[in-house]
Amino acid sequence: MKSLSSLTDGLQQSDIRAVTARVRAVNGINLGQGVCDMPAPDAIKQGAKSAIDRDKSIYAPYDGVEPLKDRIKEKVSTFNKIPIQGPENILVTSGSTGGFVAAAFALFDPGDEVIQFEPLYGYHSKLLKLRDVKQKTLPLHPPGWEIDFDRLESLITSKTKAIVLTTPNNPCGKVWSRRELERLLDLMNRHDLYAITDEVYEYMTYEGRSHVSLASLDGAFKRTITLSSFSKTFNMTGWRLGYAAGPEKIIEKMGLLSDIIYICAPTPLQFGLADGFATDPTYYESLLRDYTAKRSRMCKALESAGFEVPWPEGAYYVFASFRPLSGQPGFTDDRQACFTLIDRTGVGSIPGGSFYTEPSDGRYLLRFCFAKKEEELEEACKRLERL
Ligand SMILES: Cc1ncc(COP(=O)(O)O)c(C=O)c1O
Repeated sequence: MKSLSSLTDGLQQSDIRAVTARVRAVNGINLGQGVCDMPAPDAIKQGAKSAIDRDKSIYAPYDGVEPLKDRIKEKVSTFNKIPIQGPENILVTSGSTGGFVAAAFALFDPGDEVIQFEPLYGYHSKLLKLRDVKQKTLPLHPPGWEIDFDRLESLITSKTKAIVLTTPNNPCGKVWSRRELERLLDLMNRHDLYAITDEVYEYMTYEGRSHVSLASLDGAFKRTITLSSFSKTFNMTGWRLGYAAGPEKIIEKMGLLSDIIYICAPTPLQFGLADGFATDPTYYESLLRDYTAKRSRMCKALESAGFEVPWPEGAYYVFASFRPLSGQPGFTDDRQACFTLIDRTGVGSIPGGSFYTEPSDGRYLLRFCFAKKEEELEEACKRLERL
């Protein structure tokens, strides 16, 4: 038979699946996959049930239903301080991932170059690969994950079209400061570059840090696509709802593309989200309090298990180094250490190599997700402490 598309060559599931199977086999606790297993807010669930009962079952407008776009507009203006003018600047997408796909199609031609920061979120690089975009990466190092701006500038060529950045970052938790974003913008202006920012963990920043959206800086909006979603904020990763905010010209093209790719995000779920969208600041305060306590519990447990732990500035992962344990059997590299931990404690994590273009760069690192129910996280931490 004729061969399948060459686009699928080399594509494979990340280690997440293998880790999940192994954790299941030992009836363990999976801190590998980045999903939060807390319930979605009641008001959103009620809203969706009511929308289903009211037969809100037909295709939505490709750019999203009006009440949800209104809530997003309000949130993007007030929380993110992004200078949007109206609904033409917002596109409702199938999760932020749907937004990234549309952005990758709207901005790039094969052969264009994009700069990312390592460690990176694998979906971005896989999707860019599907677009045949040439990717360059600037490595960041713990504990501060600082940006070497001279090195960043040296990666730019006449073919560079955009910079992709995730703040707060998955997996390392880096939160870009305003000063860093200003320096980035200066570089974007001088070299005429776009940015795609992934801000899905925007409400999770620790020790008084604030989330700053690149697009909120003076002059940045016209060259920035801001992506976010409700997956993490409202514990609804499976609902597949997110959005892109940006200049009308780009959002319009992204809308045409997402219409072709999947028509629209699920209609009754959009109405449900619009109904239950939390506007009360206490929701976000309580989310942050909860994650602050979990972060601290997780970091301390890993420290007492012998890991080197750069405490994350944001998001809900700890990207920890087991180098101090690397003399022990079973801790030679990240995959082996991950499976040793599952066998000895039942706790699942993700091997660090998954977050690097050159997997050996993550050889001594494991990522642990602390977005878990309290009892489960507590049990995982106790098991790690006994290691
Ligand atoms: C950095 C980052 N971006 C995007 C996503 C996916 O988000 P969504 O559910 O909005 O597509 C994840 C999920 O883990 C993530 O970590």
